[in-house]
Amino acid sequence: MKTIGFIGAGHIGSQIARLAVAHGFDVVISNSRGPETLAALVKELGPRARASTPLEAAIEGDIVVVTIPLKNIRSVPVEPLAGKVVIDTNNYYPQRDGQIPELDDESTTTSELLKAHLSESKVVKAFNHIYAAELTTQGLPAGTPNRRALVIAGDDPAAKQTVAGLLDAFGFDTVDAGPLKEGWRIQRDTPGYGPRRNAEELRKDLAAAKRYRA
Ligand SMILES: NC(=O)c1ccc[n+]([C@@H]2O[C@H](COP(=O)([O-])OP(=O)(O)OC[C@H]3O[C@@H](n4cnc5c(N)ncnc54)[C@H](OP(=O)(O)O)[C@@H]3O)[C@@H](O)[C@H]2O)c1
Repeated sequence: MKTIGFIGAGHIGSQIARLAVAHGFDVVISNSRGPETLAALVKELGPRARASTPLEAAIEGDIVVVTIPLKNIRSVPVEPLAGKVVIDTNNYYPQRDGQIPELDDESTTTSELLKAHLSESKVVKAFNHIYAAELTTQGLPAGTPNRRALVIAGDDPAAKQTVAGLLDAFGFDTVDAGPLKEGWRIQRDTPGYGPRRNAEELRKDLAAAKRYRA
């Protein structure tokens, strides 16, 4: 695992890219407007970084982070991501994404939508409930008491282990919410969405979460 590809390089994508470079990964970052619009970020990230199209980022990433507005996930390249660990940071904001009926009636969840699009990928939900700025300020070494924890959810145990290892390297404990379908427990408006929580607190937040229509 040497290269992390990014589809999306905004608030959260750029922050995860900064952590990745700081921890020895190469990064290939992309957005919708073209690699030339990412020159400043590439310059800041240094020689481990380059900008590309989303297709190239999907091909070149050993792991690929999808971090774009949810309404655009169907543009994510499918074939090059088959078999790969894909990290999904996305959340549903109807004012930005428009109404998505299957989320409004809670028959699915955001990460299951991405998984339906990327049926051959190992989608792991992660990084969706921390403010982008805190990613580079709140990480602590493993074993630090009261270390901040972040939730993962996914259907592939090995992929989740990979992502938990990444989170640990980046300075965070992991709380496993279970399969992708349990990802709603850390969606917008749940207790764990946003605040700094250690692992024990976050487990309680997940247990206390309620669906909108409950
Ligand atoms: N901001 C946070 O603190 C935070 C925290 C956790 C999770 N999230 C979630 O993570 C996702 C990204 O949030 P963000 O705040 O980073 O958004 P953002 O700052 O608006 O950045 C979005 C990025 O996605 C790119 N993009 C948009 N459509 C694309 C497409 N079809 N193909 C490739 N790239 C595309 C944009 O590039 P262009 O500008 O070129 O279109 C931009 O680089 C959202 O679902 C958000 O809810 C955000």
